[in-house]
Amino acid sequence: MNFEKLSKIYFSPSGTTEKIVNEVAKNFNMTRENYDLLSFDESKTFTDELVIIGIPVFDGRIPKLACKRLSKIKGTDTKAIVVLNYGNINYGDALLELVELLKENDFHIVGVATTVSQHSQFNEVGSNRPDASDMERINEFSRKVIEKLNSNTQNEIFVSGYKPFPDYKTPDFSVLCDENLCIECMDCVYTCPEEAISELTPTETNLDDCTRCTTCINVCPENARSFGGDTYQSELENAISNSLERNEVEFFL
Ligand SMILES: Cc1cc2nc3c(=O)[nH]c(=O)nc-3n(C[C@H](O)[C@H](O)[C@H](O)COP(=O)(O)O)c2cc1C
Ligand code: SF4
Ligand code: SF4
Repeated sequence: MNFEKLSKIYFSPSGTTEKIVNEVAKNFNMTRENYDLLSFDESKTFTDELVIIGIPVFDGRIPKLACKRLSKIKGTDTKAIVVLNYGNINYGDALLELVELLKENDFHIVGVATTVSQHSQFNEVGSNRPDASDMERINEFSRKVIEKLNSNTQNEIFVSGYKPFPDYKTPDFSVLCDENLCIECMDCVYTCPEEAISELTPTETNLDDCTRCTTCINVCPENARSFGGDTYQSELENAISNSLERNEVEFFL
């Protein structure tokens, strides 16, 4: 393996995708750089480095904003390790969408893992994942990719999925903010990737712009923000009944 450095590129509103990317990266003894797509919105070409790209699943697709920002990121036949992270329901066509986008952008994919984490909208689903057994599998994946890179094996990775991809969906439920807890620190205002929270009244969220991505809930130091409203409870029950079995980490090498 002869890479200048390891670049980690991820979109991770509630932090589990970043955590898994870091776990994969731990096995590589190289200088690292981070590109957090919640804020990184530039055109860039990656050349002599190895990249790890981690993206979560939003409603069976890759998040619209992550897709837009990833589209500006190119390789030059650059070797890439791909992590698609989902909340134990299913990953729909997001795997095909992500792999196709990266191939179009001239990345040479050397390994793909689908990983499972706690569902960021419905924490009762996939609770406390990734757990120790997930981390073991993620490290096994990482070691297999290293073996493959060292042996210089050349193959193209194919994954399944259906096209055309389904339309983007936004749930009906609300993002609530407890006025008694909010200290107006503005952290949610400045980290919301959709600019859906008003600087004048940070307790209010523009639900037309909000994608229910979870960034603000995760970032709020006072735990003032949460999902709720009329349809939340029924969507939670649906999510629980659609995820009764434990899904495991899968590899494509
Ligand atoms: C808007 C939205 C839609 C989601 N859709 C799905 C889905 O279709 N299937 C699934 O298994 N998990 C789904 N999830 C759960 C996330 O994919 C999962 O929690 C992932 O770990 C989030 O990554 P993060 O912690 O890096 O933000 C969704 C989460 C959000 C916020
Ligand atoms: S307001 Fe909506 S889009 Fe903005 S961070 Fe919160 S959940 Fe995400
Ligand atoms: S991050 Fe929390 S405390 Fe800070 S402004 Fe937003 S809701 Fe209020």
